[in-house]
Amino acid sequence: MEDDICNQEEALKKILKILLVCCVIIVAFLAYKSASKLSTSKARDGCHFTGYMSKQVRVEPGSKHAKDPDSQVYVASMSDPIRQNEVCLQCHMRNRDIRLKDHNMSEIYGDAKDYPYGYEAGMPLVEYKLPAPFTMGHETKEFYTNGVGKKNRTQGNEFVNSIKAKHGITCINCHDPHTLAPTAQNNTGNKLYLKCHGFGSVIGPHQDSLEKHTHHKADSKGSLCVECHMPKTGRHTGKSPLTVRSHMFGFVTPNKTRKYKMPDETNACFACHKHDRSMEVLQKDLQKWGMVDWTHRN
Ligand code: HEC
Ligand code: HEC
Ligand code: HEC
Ligand code: HEC
Repeated sequence: MEDDICNQEEALKKILKILLVCCVIIVAFLAYKSASKLSTSKARDGCHFTGYMSKQVRVEPGSKHAKDPDSQVYVASMSDPIRQNEVCLQCHMRNRDIRLKDHNMSEIYGDAKDYPYGYEAGMPLVEYKLPAPFTMGHETKEFYTNGVGKKNRTQGNEFVNSIKAKHGITCINCHDPHTLAPTAQNNTGNKLYLKCHGFGSVIGPHQDSLEKHTHHKADSKGSLCVECHMPKTGRHTGKSPLTVRSHMFGFVTPNKTRKYKMPDETNACFACHKHDRSMEVLQKDLQKWGMVDWTHRN
C-alpha cells in the first residue's frame, strides 16, 4: 500500500517535471517570437514593416497582414514610446525638409519634400524630417503664440510638448490604430480618460466627483473632458470652421486665450457660451469656482 503511494508520488513528480520543461519551452518560444518582432531593420509600408528581419524570417506588408493576422509585421506597440509615436508623427506632425539642416530653401527649391522621404516605421524619425519651427511667444502660420496648432496635422508638434508625452503616453494609448477611434464621428466619451484620471486617483482631477470638477451637470456636454481639455483650435484650410482639436490637453482660461492672441472661439468655455456669456464673465466664473491657477501653474 505504502509502495503504491510512493509510486504514485514518483509518477506525479515525473509528470510535473515534464510539464515544467514544456512550460519553459513555450515561454522561450514566445520570448523568441516577440524579440524577433523588435529586431526590425527595414520597413516599406506606412505603419508596419516589410522586408527581412533576419536571414530566415521575412516580414510581410501591412496589406497581407490585414488578411492574415498571423503573418509577421513590425509592431509599433512593442517599441518604446518615441518609436511608437513616430509612426503617427510621420504624417501628423508639421515639418520641413530635412535637407534644410545643411541647405537653404533656394538650393532645394522645387524639390522640397512635405513628407519624411525614406522614413520607414521603426526608424528614428528625426533623421528624416525637421519639425516645423516654433519659438514660444511668436505666432507662425501653423501655431499660435503658445504653440497650439492652427491647422490640421499639428497633433504631433503639440503632443511632443505635452505632459502626457513626457510621461511616455502614446497616440495609440488613446487611438485604436486600426479604427482610429476616438474621432469626431466616433467619440467614446469620458470613459477613456477616467481610466487614467479617475476621481480620487493620484493624477485625477483634485475634486472628488465629475460635477465638482466641471461645475456642469454630469450629463451635460459641459462635463465632457475633451470639450474643455481638447478645444477646437485648428482649421483644415484658411477659411474652414474650427474643427481640429488641440492635443496639448492643458486648460486655457479666457484670459490666457486673449494673452496668447488666439481667437475667442478657440477658448473651450466661449466655444459653447458665445451667445450667453462674455470672455470676461467666463473668466470670473472660473475664478468663482477656484479653477484658476489653483496649483500656481500658469
Ligand atoms: C501615411 C500617413 C498617415 C499615418 C502614418 C497616420 N495617419 Fe492618421 N490620417 C492621415 C490622413 C491623410 C488623415 C485624414 C486627413 C486628416 O484628418 O488629416 C488621417 C486621419 C486621422 C484621424 C482622424 C480620422 C477621422 O475619421 O476623423 C485620426 C484620429 C488619425 N489619423 C490618427 C492617427 C494615428 C493615431 C496614427 C498612428 C497610429 C496615424 N493616424 C497614422 C494620415 C496618416
Ligand atoms: C488623451 C487621448 C489622446 C491622445 C494621447 C491622442 N489623441 Fe488624437 N484625439 C483624441 C480625441 C478624443 C480626438 C477627437 C475628439 C472629437 O473630435 O470628438 C482626437 C482627434 C485626433 C485627430 C482628428 C483631428 C481632428 O479633426 O480633431 C487626429 C488626426 C489625431 N487625434 C491624431 C493623434 C496623434 C497623431 C496622436 C499622437 C501624437 C494623438 N492623436 C494622441 C484623443 C487623443
Ligand atoms: C468645464 C470644463 C472642464 C471639463 C469638462 C473637464 N475639466 Fe479638467 N480642468 C478644467 C480646469 C479649468 C482645470 C484647472 C486648470 C488649472 O487650474 O490649471 C482642470 C484641470 C484638470 C486636471 C489637473 C488637475 C486638477 O484637478 O486641476 C485634470 C487631471 C483634469 N482636469 C482632468 C479632467 C478629466 C479626466 C475630465 C473629464 C472627466 C475633465 N478634466 C473635464 C476644466 C474642465
Ligand atoms: C461643450 C459645451 C460647454 C462647455 C465647453 C462649457 N459649457 Fe458651461 N454650460 C453648457 C451647458 C449646456 C450649460 C447648461 C447647464 C448644464 O448643462 O449644466 C452650461 C452652463 C454653464 C453655467 C451656468 C449658467 C446658468 O445660467 O446657470 C456656467 C456659469 C457655465 N456653464 C460656465 C462655463 C465655463 C466657465 C466654462 C469653461 C470652463 C464652460 N461653461 C464650458 C455647455 C458648456
